[in-house]
Formats: sequence, C-alpha cells, structure tokens
Amino acid sequence: MSGTEGFSRYYYTTMHNNMDTSPPGGGIPRPRRSSTVLENGSLYTHGDKGEPPVFQSASGMSTPIPLPDVYTQPAHKYPGLDSKHNSTGVIWATEQATAKGYHPDDPAWTNFGQGAPEVGPIPGGMEKPQWIESGVGEREYAPTSGVKELREAVANLYNDHYRKGMESQYTYENVCIVPGGRAGLIRIASILRDCYMSFFLPDYTAYSEMLSLFKNFAAIPVPLEESDNYQVHLDAVENELRRGVTAMITSNPRNPTGHSLKGEGLEKLHDMCRQQCLLIMDEFYSRYYYGSNCDGSSNSSAQYVQDVNVDPVLILDGLTKAFRLPGWRVCWILGPKKYIEALTSAGSYLDGGTNAPFQKAAIPMLEPNLVRTEMAAVQTHFKAKRDYCIQRLESMGFHFRSKPDSTFYLWLDLSHLPGKIKTALGFFQECLNERIITVPGIFFDLNPVARRELHDSPMFHFVRLSYGPPMDQLKQGMDGIQRIVDRYKAGASILPKR
Ligand SMILES: Cc1ncc(COP(=O)(O)O)c(C=O)c1O
Repeated sequence: MSGTEGFSRYYYTTMHNNMDTSPPGGGIPRPRRSSTVLENGSLYTHGDKGEPPVFQSASGMSTPIPLPDVYTQPAHKYPGLDSKHNSTGVIWATEQATAKGYHPDDPAWTNFGQGAPEVGPIPGGMEKPQWIESGVGEREYAPTSGVKELREAVANLYNDHYRKGMESQYTYENVCIVPGGRAGLIRIASILRDCYMSFFLPDYTAYSEMLSLFKNFAAIPVPLEESDNYQVHLDAVENELRRGVTAMITSNPRNPTGHSLKGEGLEKLHDMCRQQCLLIMDEFYSRYYYGSNCDGSSNSSAQYVQDVNVDPVLILDGLTKAFRLPGWRVCWILGPKKYIEALTSAGSYLDGGTNAPFQKAAIPMLEPNLVRTEMAAVQTHFKAKRDYCIQRLESMGFHFRSKPDSTFYLWLDLSHLPGKIKTALGFFQECLNERIITVPGIFFDLNPVARRELHDSPMFHFVRLSYGPPMDQLKQGMDGIQRIVDRYKAGASILPKR
C-alpha cells in the first residue's frame, strides 16, 4: 500500500464513520472528533495515545493534517457572512436599550443617545412639505451626481454664505449630491489612491468602518488631548504632513465634543494643506453654531478655499442635521471638478444616486435668505436646550472645561463620580435602568483595525449626551441622571473612608 493510498483510506474512514447527522437547527453535518474506525476495524480515540488530531474543515469535513487556517474556520451558519461586523456606537446603545424594553415611541424613555435633531416644528422654523410630488420624470434614475438644479442651489448657497466677493465661485460642477452623509463618506473613501490618511481621536463613529473597509489607503490615528478640549492643533497637522500624509479627515464642528475649528485656525489649516494634502471636512454640524448670537451665521471651510477647482478640499454636509431631515437622505459634497467627476462615477457602482423626488423638493429650501432665517431658529432653539442641560449637569457636580460652541452633543466627564458610574459602561447601564440612553465614549475612540484594547481607552470615563430630543424629554432625562448621581453619592457617603 502506497503512502497516498494509506492516507486516503484513513481519511475516508475518518470522514464516514465520524459524520454526525444534522446538527440541531439543521445546517452542515459535522464530524465527531472523538473516535475513528481504523482499517482493521478497531476503534481508537484521537489524542489518547498521542495520535494526531483530526482537523475540521469549513465544510464540516475532517483531515488528519492541519490545513491552512483559511480553510479551517468553524462551519458557518450564515454562509459568506463576516460575523465580525458587530454593531457599535449609537446602534449598539439602542440595541441594549431595546433589550430593556425601549421603543422610540415610548415617552417614558429619554434618548440622549440619538445622533439626530428633533424633527417636529420649532418656533420660527420653516414649514416642511407634507407631500412630495413624484411625476413620470421622477420615476427615472436621477444622475449619480444629482439633479442639476439642486447642484446649482447648493453651489449658490455656499457662494452666498461663504464666498461673497471672491473671484473663484462654486458652480454645479463642484457639487455631487449623495444619498446621505455616510454614503458620501464611502464615495470619498473609494476614490482615494494609495496614501496615508490621518484621522483624529475622538471623532464620528462611522469613520471607523469607512477607514477599515477600503484598502486603498492607510489610516493613521492622531490622538487629541482631553486637557484642551481635543483641539486639532496645527503643530499636530504639521507633524502629519511631515510624515507624508496626503489626506486628512475630520468632523468640524467635532462630533462628539461639540467644539469647532474656525477663524484664523481654520484658515491656517487650509494654508498648510493647500499644496499637498486633501482635506475632507465633514461639516454636518456647521449650522449648529451658538457663537454669533444665534443670527443664523456659521463657519465653513468654503470661506478659506482660494480656487474652488484647485484647492484639495472636500466639504460634506446635507439636509440630515441642519434641515432636520435625516429621513430624506439628501446630502452633498463640494469640491474641485476633478474630484466631483470621480465621486460621480463611484456613485454609479456604490449606491446608484439619491432619489429624484426628494432632490427636487429640496431645491426651494436652499434659498440663501431662507436658510439664514431657518438656521437662526435652529440655533436659538438648540442653544436653549444646550444651556438647560449644562446648567442641570453642573448643579449635579459635572464639570465642563468650556461650553461647547457647536453641534447638539455634550461630552460628559464621569471621572469624579463614585463607584461604577465613573466608567462609561457603568453609567450607561445605570442610565438604562432609569430608561435613559447614552453613548459610551469608547465608541468615539476610533479603532478601525482593532489594534487597541478598548478597556485601555482614555475615553472610558466619558459618555456622549445628545440634546437632539425635545425639551420635555431632556428634562425627564436630567431628572433620571440626578436620581442616579444622588443614589451613588448617598451610597458612597456611608462607605468607610479609606
Ligand atoms: C459628523 C457626521 N458626519 C456624517 C453623519 C452622517 O449623516 P447621515 O445620517 O446623513 O448618513 C453624521 C451622523 O451622525 C455625523 O455625525
């Protein structure tokens, strides 16, 4: 008997005599690994006498010698699905709350976790359409760059608000309409070529997936310092440029901390990067700005772009937050024509473009004066909510280094609290018991290739609170947090002092 024959007989008997019937719940039959019938009919158990173990392949077959790992992953109940794609951030927090009975329509819950603003009417706000027209023309595919009239309206809005008197002006060719901010981020990621891309910690949770799904660039984390409100310092940017970084992404204003880079600092950032580095400026919260007496004005990188077709700057925004229409999925990217052409072609295979009826409905809303009035209403309304939440939290002993001037988020430091509520997960859990949702800070400590242990994160003592919900819910939620803090402080005071 040749060696090969011997192997195949051994393999054959091992396979056939060890095959189970279907596992509970169906699926691929799996072999028992314990015993094998040898050619002479006797039975032995693997491992008993130092025999080689039988290795299981992905299909449930076994082999006497180890195959490369890629062939020996445990048999899968959902073929083709990568089970590593777990939910994180807001989605994870909401799932945990749902397991505790949360439902979005249940008024007993306060969702400080929500990443969206309240969508109902607010004082002085524009009337939103109740009906959207959709004729025969809107049944067709819209162009993957977007409906031309909407692209023109976006260009006109940015020229009017940020580029008055400048020679270089945006046109529709500098605008790509995308079906939501995240679709825009994915389109951007797909058009980059081999490069280093820096991102800052903490930042918007979805960047983690954007930065890990695509292999055409290497993502470089740049940690920011808690001690100065996580500002993006220009010397850190200088370091990144020296490293050879040719793309950089940041939310500005920043999610989750609520601070923004503006004025001279923002101008300098553009001056430093103009010649060598693509700036991806995610301005989803730029209109939630409380530093100008709520007059509707805001800051944008569009103010510091010199030539709209030369400066390597992509600006991302849309109806999601500023117009409080997250369900419409109408957003945009502004940038040089060359980038917009690439983004348009990426849309043809990534997402197929934004729906036509809602693009048409968005056009009249972008009239520059109307936008200013709307944003004044949004700023007035949300600033009152910010101030209320900060005042309540400060009265409970929480501390803010400075008031966040933008977004609708508070980055809450828990480190002074007693017992388990000084950690993000302990606080999160106690909040769930009070029917309050928060988002643990660790999710903003982006970790796209999972190289770090989240337990080591300096953001383990923070949660993000959103004041997106209406005021009555915020009051209810603050009362709940007050109860938790009071309970823990009372508990701590009866513990023996060390
Ligand atoms: C900084 C930032 N950019 C983009 C988005 C995504 O927006 P969209 O919901 O339109 O995908 C969000 C949403 O939370 C965000 O916080």
